[in-house]
Amino acid sequence: MAQSVKGMRDLFGAELRWFQHIEETARRVFGRHGYGEIRTPILEELDVFKRSVGESSDIVNKEMYQFTDKGGRDVVMRPENTAGVVRAAIQHKLLNANDPVLFYYIGQQFRYERMQAGRYRQFWQIGAESFGVASPESEAESLLLLHSFLTELGLKSLVFSINSVGTPESRPAFHAAFRAFFAQRADRFCEDCHRRIESNPLRVLDCKNEQCQAALEGHPVITDHLDEASAKHHARLKSLLTELDIPFVENPRLVRGLDYYTRTAFEVLSSDLGAQSALLGGGRYDGLFKQLGGPEVPGFGWAIGLDRLAMVLQQVRGDAPFTPPALLIPLGERAATEALKLARTLWDTGVTLQLETRGGALKKAMASANRLGIQTVLILGDGELDSGMITVKHMATGEQESWPLGEVAERLADRG
Ligand code: HAM
Repeated sequence: MAQSVKGMRDLFGAELRWFQHIEETARRVFGRHGYGEIRTPILEELDVFKRSVGESSDIVNKEMYQFTDKGGRDVVMRPENTAGVVRAAIQHKLLNANDPVLFYYIGQQFRYERMQAGRYRQFWQIGAESFGVASPESEAESLLLLHSFLTELGLKSLVFSINSVGTPESRPAFHAAFRAFFAQRADRFCEDCHRRIESNPLRVLDCKNEQCQAALEGHPVITDHLDEASAKHHARLKSLLTELDIPFVENPRLVRGLDYYTRTAFEVLSSDLGAQSALLGGGRYDGLFKQLGGPEVPGFGWAIGLDRLAMVLQQVRGDAPFTPPALLIPLGERAATEALKLARTLWDTGVTLQLETRGGALKKAMASANRLGIQTVLILGDGELDSGMITVKHMATGEQESWPLGEVAERLADRG
């Protein structure tokens, strides 16, 4: 039997219903904040990710689906969408007028990762990116957007974990202090961390190894080494979040797995996903436009894992809101013709209805209705056609009644 590729799932049924509900909520909330959708290709040139996500990151180092196409180009199935959206904004000169630009996206991403709960090789992200504004207020706006999105989905007790990773100019001061700290206890760190301390010391803070995390006890904190402007920026964001009642904690080890962040970096963890798994993450990336060959433009954004969000919502709220269609069952050829006509009228007025087209026994059709979770069954036979009254069976109670044929649309609509 043919199987889907490991780590790549088919989506259907109850899980897909959560995806759809989340996507509808996202479009509504994003639209309210003035964000417009953008869709970029799944394949990007390798260079786009090397220059942005960074060569020292696990994503670029170990996890990319990368190949040479028939034209000899080195291409990658995107592991994330921020770099592609920035590439598109540069390519199409979307920022020429220097106005702020607000984008959101919903799409598949690909990372060759070890499988775990909520971790897949093809997964979905919903993201929001705000280009052209460097202020803490723009970050607060983006976080408010995220907060209303999660609140409208019914997630209430999430805590934002925030940090500032400074700027490329201010970071060497932290690197020096951190390398000195590392040198004093170098034997307690893993081999990967020995490589990281050379290529990108911040990555050591992000190491998943428990021994390394223990060895980090008392490490120098990056927010103690910020330049004045970054420190002010960080303090202002924290005061805005307090004013807005957005709960947050400061996490000096939060550096994120991608290299493009400057100043603010943040995540939201969910205990439903296990200790190490973030529900979402994001931050500021003021150098990214330049790194990808564009003008100097500040940016801030975040992305949430749709697969993980759907999983958490299923745990917290049960099945996604869903009203199954009504089922119309005709009995006999004359009724089959009339049922097609009636169904057409009902569909045209917006009624959600499934039509039984197999013919044959009522028992078989009723058994299907049961399996499909259908609540309302309409039965149309010769007797109903002659009397102008359709038989209606409410599956939950077994109750049966007759409705005038002309009132079916209205009565089904009342059902909700
Ligand atoms: P990220 O932290 O790499 O950031 O990914 C964001 C979210 O995508 C994660 O928090 C997680 O929910 C989901 N995710 C990541 N990998 C997987 C996986 N293998 N399976 C399931 N879900 C996964 C970014 O991608 C940045 N582009 C976020 C950003 C936007 N920063 C600024 N703007």
